Amino acid sequence: MLTPEDNQLLTQTDAGTPMGDVFRRYWIPALQTEELISDGKPQRVKLLGEDLVAFRDTEGKVGLVDERCPHRGTSLYYGINDDCGLRCMYHGWKFNT
Ligand code: FES
Repeated sequence: MLTPEDNQLLTQTDAGTPMGDVFRRYWIPALQTEELISDGKPQRVKLLGEDLVAFRDTEGKVGLVDERCPHRGTSLYYGINDDCGLRCMYHGWKFNT
């Protein structure tokens, strides 16, 4: 039987945890390819305790970024996906894949 400490060690996958470091070395299925449309609406994805946004750009490349814009924290889920990037709704910073 696991101790509470071992259980915590084996089940926590947030960034900076031992199991989080292990899982970040492998591919993790998150969405089906048809869920991302070129220049379509971004999709929310939660992986290993992180809130992310996935999008497919004009050229068909897939991007996966933190949901919060690094400028002022606005959700990029509401961003505009066009012209090869995802543009933040608040001040217009743009992110490529
Ligand atoms: S909050 Fe995204 S550009 Fe300012």
